[in-house]
Amino acid sequence: MRVELKPRLTMAAEMVRQDSRIADIGTDHAYLPAALLLDGTIPFAIAADLRKGPLDNAQATVDHYGIADKVKLLRSNGLRNVMPDEVDDIVIAGMGGILISEILEDAPWIKDEKYKLILQPQSHDEVVRRWLWSNGFEIIEQSSCIDDKKPYICMSAVFTGKTTEHDPIEDMFGDFFYRKDDASDAFCQKKLHRVSVRHSALMKIDPENEEIKSLQYILDEVKKW
Ligand SMILES: C[S@@+](CC[C@H](N)C(=O)[O-])C[C@H]1O[C@@H](n2cnc3c(N)ncnc32)[C@H](O)[C@@H]1O
Repeated sequence: MRVELKPRLTMAAEMVRQDSRIADIGTDHAYLPAALLLDGTIPFAIAADLRKGPLDNAQATVDHYGIADKVKLLRSNGLRNVMPDEVDDIVIAGMGGILISEILEDAPWIKDEKYKLILQPQSHDEVVRRWLWSNGFEIIEQSSCIDDKKPYICMSAVFTGKTTEHDPIEDMFGDFFYRKDDASDAFCQKKLHRVSVRHSALMKIDPENEEIKSLQYILDEVKKW
């Protein structure tokens, strides 16, 4: 038996290291852990969620595929109830980037080179990048895909202890700005629209706002591209 993941979760699955124990935070149906267990990528998973309903969904998946002995279902706000020595790779997929950053901020123990973070923000991915770079992580993989006609991205990161600064283009788009494939292009177009809307809104309501400078920089750079 195997679980066929949709392209968005496939991106995250492909970044999980062979034989690593994962924590899937905000697991809902636990499709990702089930797929990785059944295809032999991982030996063990923590399927964690804040709420009971999603954990019931996870339980149903685990029972259906007969993998209960390899999955620990865990009620947890972010990483709070995950033990640092239980996991190697940490996946947080399908949440907004602000919430993902808050979950990471709340778990200082992840600042250790042995962990790999696999993050699939649905929005505000620039907040995730900034959090990673300013907290000593290096982004080592970035993927984009189209799923149900919408663009999605995923990234992985490891702790190096070195904080880095990046220009507003890299902050906002990652390296998708420089890629030529359809998914990266669709993702950048969608974000560019948001940048433009935010720039216009700030110009109207708060013209002294510091953020305008970086938004203007992005809009100017895009014109040159
Ligand atoms: C949209 S679902 C994503 C499910 C799956 N990870 C995916 O990408 O398809 C988001 C899940 O995150 C859970 N969630 C939201 N905030 C959370 C938190 N602070 N800690 C753990 N889980 C959370 C929700 O209960 C929900 O099940």
